[in-house]
Amino acid sequence: MNAMPMIPYGRQSIDEDDIAAVVATLRSAFLTQGPAVAQFEAALCSYTGATYCVAVCNATAGLHMAVAALELPAGSEGVTSPNTFLASANCMAYCNVKPVFADIEPQHFNIDPVEVQARITDATRVLVPVHFAGHPADMVAIAEIARKHRLRVIEDAAHAIGSRYEDGGMVGNCRHSDMTVFSFHPVKTITTGEGGAITTNDPELYRRLLRLRSHGMTKDPQELTSNPGPWYYEMQSLGFNYRLTDLQAALGITQLAKLDQFAARRKAIIAQYNRSFSQLDWMQAPLQQGGVDACFHLYATQIDFPRLGKTRQQAMQLLLAQGVGTQVHYIPVHTQPWYRSTYGYQMGDYPAAESYYERALSLPLFPAMSDAEVARVVTAIQSLP
Ligand SMILES: Cc1ncc(COP(=O)(O)O)c(C=O)c1O
Repeated sequence: MNAMPMIPYGRQSIDEDDIAAVVATLRSAFLTQGPAVAQFEAALCSYTGATYCVAVCNATAGLHMAVAALELPAGSEGVTSPNTFLASANCMAYCNVKPVFADIEPQHFNIDPVEVQARITDATRVLVPVHFAGHPADMVAIAEIARKHRLRVIEDAAHAIGSRYEDGGMVGNCRHSDMTVFSFHPVKTITTGEGGAITTNDPELYRRLLRLRSHGMTKDPQELTSNPGPWYYEMQSLGFNYRLTDLQAALGITQLAKLDQFAARRKAIIAQYNRSFSQLDWMQAPLQQGGVDACFHLYATQIDFPRLGKTRQQAMQLLLAQGVGTQVHYIPVHTQPWYRSTYGYQMGDYPAAESYYERALSLPLFPAMSDAEVARVVTAIQSLP
């Protein structure tokens, strides 16, 4: 028997009110396509300050729909960060838009606007900045580049619900972008099991997103080419079934109501970690830009493994032996075999993201961590050398 239960790097927080909301939906008339989805979308609009919201089955689908909604011509290119999960780039590949990467800056490991500018060609149509670990990318600079080159902007905010930009606005308000995509996977700050949402202030994009979510179909009398009766629908574009269920949306509503509480607990854990690790000359804790209020989803550290005198694998094993789970965020996307063989990317193309990856290690961070678990992580880290 394991006397020391494993602390994972991330985990959901589910309370009785979440369970009651899902059970109530199970007893209701609608498991899907019912009222909970619209209620969740309205709650997300009011939380983020965006005008429109479309809830979807996961953020990967949301990113795919967001790129598809732009209706970009064949041969287009889009620029994203190499320091991200695959989905930030795959969403473009699904739509025959070539994913181009721009290297990251050394403070928050987000896409560097100077590098973005350098990657723009005549074919560039969209920028997909990622708010890595929950710290917003420099959206003022990115929006300025987009304005100058007439590009669209999709924020990959899979990590960043609850974060505020330097100007104080909530991530997802779309003041600096066309659309913002959130993830509600269980390791994220709030969860619906699987799930995601897209926010936008653009009524035409909203209309396209609604259609793309449900097979490209419309029943809106204003849009139909004929209207023989109430059963009638038309498929006017090629869409998907990327819907969120009411069961998930009901969970999303109760989770969202607790987001600020979750964020406060995350911040308290981070403050404790930062205090405990400040003396370690082989570790760099996550930094926060002045003015930004980051709701960190990950505690993504940088570790000088040679200085520590252990390989990453050895360190992860030692931590695991003390019941501390860790993870690596992220293997640079351009180094993946499919990206190399499809687009010809190579090791060395994005040196900042590659050297970041060599030092990356994410420690456990989730609101349900007890003080004793936080202390256990601290002790395990301090005993590594
Ligand atoms: C940056 C980023 N974008 C997109 C996604 C995709 O999210 P989902 O799992 O909801 O499809 C993830 C998932 O971890 C992610 O980390």
